[in-house]
Amino acid sequence: HAGRRVSGLSFIGIAPVADDVDRLTVPGGFTYAPIIRWGDPVLKGAPMFDPEHQSAEAQSMQFGYNNDYTDIIVTDKHGKKALLVCNHEYTNESIMFPPTMDPTEAIRTAWAAHGMSVVELTRPARGERWTYRRGGRLNRRITLDTPFAVDGPAAGSPLLRTKEDPTGRTVRGTMNNCSGGTTPWGTVLSGEENFNQYFKAEGTSKQEKRYGLSPTQDTRGWSKVDPRWDARSADFRNEPNRFGWIVEIDPMDPTSTPVKHTAMGRFKHEGANVIVADDGRVVAYMGDDERFDYIYKFVSRRRYDARPGNAARQHNLRLLSEGDLYVAQFTGDGMEDKVNDGSGEWIALTQGGRSMVNGFTLEEVLVYTRLAADAAVGSNGKGPTKMDRPEDVQPNLVTGRIYAACTNNSDRGKEGKAGTDEANPRPLNKDGHIVEITEVGGDHTGRRFTWDLVLICGDPKTAGTYFGGYTGPVAPISCPDNVAFDSRGDLWIATDGMPSSLKYNDGLFHVELGGPERGRVTQFLAVPAEAETCGPVIHDRDGSVFVAVQHPGEDGTWADQHSFFPDYVKQSGRGRFAGPRPTVVQVTRIG
Ligand code: FEO
Ligand code: CA
Ligand code: CA
Ligand code: CA
Repeated sequence: HAGRRVSGLSFIGIAPVADDVDRLTVPGGFTYAPIIRWGDPVLKGAPMFDPEHQSAEAQSMQFGYNNDYTDIIVTDKHGKKALLVCNHEYTNESIMFPPTMDPTEAIRTAWAAHGMSVVELTRPARGERWTYRRGGRLNRRITLDTPFAVDGPAAGSPLLRTKEDPTGRTVRGTMNNCSGGTTPWGTVLSGEENFNQYFKAEGTSKQEKRYGLSPTQDTRGWSKVDPRWDARSADFRNEPNRFGWIVEIDPMDPTSTPVKHTAMGRFKHEGANVIVADDGRVVAYMGDDERFDYIYKFVSRRRYDARPGNAARQHNLRLLSEGDLYVAQFTGDGMEDKVNDGSGEWIALTQGGRSMVNGFTLEEVLVYTRLAADAAVGSNGKGPTKMDRPEDVQPNLVTGRIYAACTNNSDRGKEGKAGTDEANPRPLNKDGHIVEITEVGGDHTGRRFTWDLVLICGDPKTAGTYFGGYTGPVAPISCPDNVAFDSRGDLWIATDGMPSSLKYNDGLFHVELGGPERGRVTQFLAVPAEAETCGPVIHDRDGSVFVAVQHPGEDGTWADQHSFFPDYVKQSGRGRFAGPRPTVVQVTRIG
């Protein structure tokens, strides 16, 4: 993996980094700098981060916790202005807050640390480092108190009504925002993932069970401060139904109301990534990150309008409000060819504004998408394929192929659970794999595809790993989570889970997809102790890579911190924190 220059960035791969190293490791000739950290002031008037005296009011104006999906959207033709858009997936109260903090204020502060941030960036010239603008005009914090409009066919449904919102059309906030995608019309999509963990619920109905709702998983105890987190009460029975959506925000307009798109279905959305089909309709690919759950796609009814101007923009902002929803079935062609591959079908769940699933209304398909998918049947009489935790499912805009990261599945093949199949070939899959999907005829709106596993991850010395047929040395890689592509269409993979599977820190990896070195994996960076690698954003033409370092030192406590990234201070004080701060980082070439 070392000793050779790869990709447009021309770097020499790093060796794997042991899982006790609390350092961000970059290749020789590169350096890194934080752009923005948890607690940094974002809005005008926001106070400096004061770790010993945090408050909900301060946090609602500061950068949130656990940065996950990140994009750097360049907004001027000189390349000197950009918007950083970032998800804040979840909070880790035991390392964030001093034990002396008022418990109610700590809960409210956690609500403010969730959501998303939009932050203006500037730099003196192309290729230089970005700095963020405190109080920038477009800066925005979206939290668990920001109103969202519900749109699409399930808006207003009785399944979405609560005492607080009898219309079923306005939801307070977004949460557990994991991955996402930036659309061709400049908005950002974000997936509401493990929403169940915030609710107390009966957990007795088949719907609540299928979404992991129970009386015991709300370890944060939020219902003590706001009754909407207690779904056992008739008043808020439907509050969990108001999360688990793809949300869309317009980072160019800080006054715009963000939207929850019911047409795209409700599950533990990892994210959504859009490509414009040849006929102009837009297609979003999506994963449901749960063991034995599915891969989906959404095809818009209307066509993308590429013309400049506000009329086209207003049209495009409605594209994800109406369309057809499909779930993927993967069929293997057998292992006689020694390759994990085959064909597949997109099984319709909704089409033309109608339910395509027996026994489900349109609203039920969209609100209880997992159960509808369980009941859906393809043309071969079989249902969709239970995958090994599909995370990012993202089209490569250079080749049109789609790449799905199946991160791992410790239950595959266990007694009472689904066994292996050609698309999920390993029992107790601890390392994950990458599915490459090719739509038949290149038609993203179509019903048929072919597929293969381009990577079966792990330590390359381990039996059962596969690196696209490449037989030279490759870097160990495990638990693929986020994927990205550079300007040449090379694949980049960010991982989450290598400390437990391989005893190495998580990292960012480059993968060749074509030519004789297809499947060659080279490690670009490693994140500090107990962190996962998020983002990533590859601006190879600009000589930059961005990663969001999420949950460094996640297993520590306030008194026993496991990471001090990125400031490495040993004594908390005004603006300084003797513990880890999730941080968005820019990696640049030296000189
Ligand atoms: Fe939040 Fe599926 O990772
Ligand atoms: Ca085969
Ligand atoms: Ca993820
Ligand atoms: Ca993750």
